[in-house]
Amino acid sequence: MKPRETVYRCQQCGFASPKPGTCPDCKRTTGELVALVEERLAPPRGGRRVALSQGRPRPLRDVALEATPRRRTGIGELDRVLGGGVVPGSLVLIGGDPGIGKSTLILQAARALAEVAPPVLYVSAEESAAQVKLRADRLGIKADGLLLWAETDLSAVQAELDTVKPEALVIDSIQTVFLPELESAPGSVAQVRECGARLMTLAKGRGIATFLVGHVTKEGALAGPRVLEHLVDTVLYFEGEQHHAYRVLRAVKNRFGSTNEIGVFQMGERGLEEVRNPSGFFLAERPRGVPGSVIVASLEGTRPLLLELQALVAPASFGTARRTVLGADYNRVCLLLAVLEKRAGMPLANQDVFVNVAGGARVIEPGADLGVVMAAASSYLDRPVPSGTVVIGEVGLTGEVRAVTGLLARLKEAAALGFERAVVPAQALPDGVAPPLETRGVSTVHEALEALLG
Ligand code: TYD
Ligand code: MG
Repeated sequence: MKPRETVYRCQQCGFASPKPGTCPDCKRTTGELVALVEERLAPPRGGRRVALSQGRPRPLRDVALEATPRRRTGIGELDRVLGGGVVPGSLVLIGGDPGIGKSTLILQAARALAEVAPPVLYVSAEESAAQVKLRADRLGIKADGLLLWAETDLSAVQAELDTVKPEALVIDSIQTVFLPELESAPGSVAQVRECGARLMTLAKGRGIATFLVGHVTKEGALAGPRVLEHLVDTVLYFEGEQHHAYRVLRAVKNRFGSTNEIGVFQMGERGLEEVRNPSGFFLAERPRGVPGSVIVASLEGTRPLLLELQALVAPASFGTARRTVLGADYNRVCLLLAVLEKRAGMPLANQDVFVNVAGGARVIEPGADLGVVMAAASSYLDRPVPSGTVVIGEVGLTGEVRAVTGLLARLKEAAALGFERAVVPAQALPDGVAPPLETRGVSTVHEALEALLG
């Protein structure tokens, strides 16, 4: 037998060195001294190369385009995020906090796939077959084409693929399966990376659509090396607040589609249900004619989403005033409050400000800036923003209101939900296009305050 190779690997970034010591990469980027951990690798057995190569180099114009074959899972919101369905032979990684519903989503997708393209092999490396069965019963799953297997040894799974010949494979999760020829523990950088690479070879080689469930760390990144994200074709994040029913599936990388799409689900008693009208869902409980509540139209990829922003401004009782932000970017909100103070002369320095996006939603795009400013001003002045009005616009440091992308799509969504008026950036009013509702263009925060709060 050939001697085993030994490498020393950083458990944070995956840096590998033939010598022990600390990680130079982490030292350079974070200043931290991270000790390298000894790892023994079995000699490669070959066959790790992914068979992408076809013939010899040839001119681009001679390359024939083949339409990517896709298989619809039957879960519309999932298909949308995947770019129109699952591509056979692709590797999809689904990350998310524990308990958010990854296993539920993937089991529902497996059921749907088992109906259109059986068999589907669901490998549960985390829960026993009985636990998965319990969940399946709760979801009312009886599909015959769905095979369930509680197994953690990936080489056993590989051996079984020849007999089962699945069209789709689910590994729940990549951090709990292992390859016995590696000495490190499941979930370690080496295991995750090697298991990912092995699954990639299997998926591409046999044309199996493969779904991997991945855990995230406290910081919100996928646990294990970043190399896993580079390796797979698609990375999806499943997000939401533990105590809210709503969940968002977001693509952060997609070799077969756009990364801008989101899918919206609601966790119910019998699993995840698709939310076809997310705006209506988020606005269902909104109060009307109450100070501090503003409806904004944000844009998630190509999908407009109406959300309710709430602000509460109250005199600070002692010390420095507090700023608490839920569902939006903290620094951005602080910046907007500073603009409101300086450009509109609203003394907020001795006021506590709380900002929340209702329903546990999240806004991350600048089109909601003006909404944050208006909600805070409305609460401070104790004057409501007229109901039936949506607020759209990015706010700059000089108090200017800037144009946003996809204004018309946002306005259409607002009109569809029965809104009558919109306050929008002045420059962005579409030329010659009749807006679907009454619009009022504003170019500064000052003008917006006048238009909305008098
Ligand atoms: P799970 O899919 O196990 O999460 P993950 O795999 O991401 O850790 O689901 C977790 C939660 O979802 C759990 O607290 C129970 C809840 N749940 C429902 O509310 N309804 C359901 O029908 C199911 C199956 C789960
Ligand atoms: Mg799970």
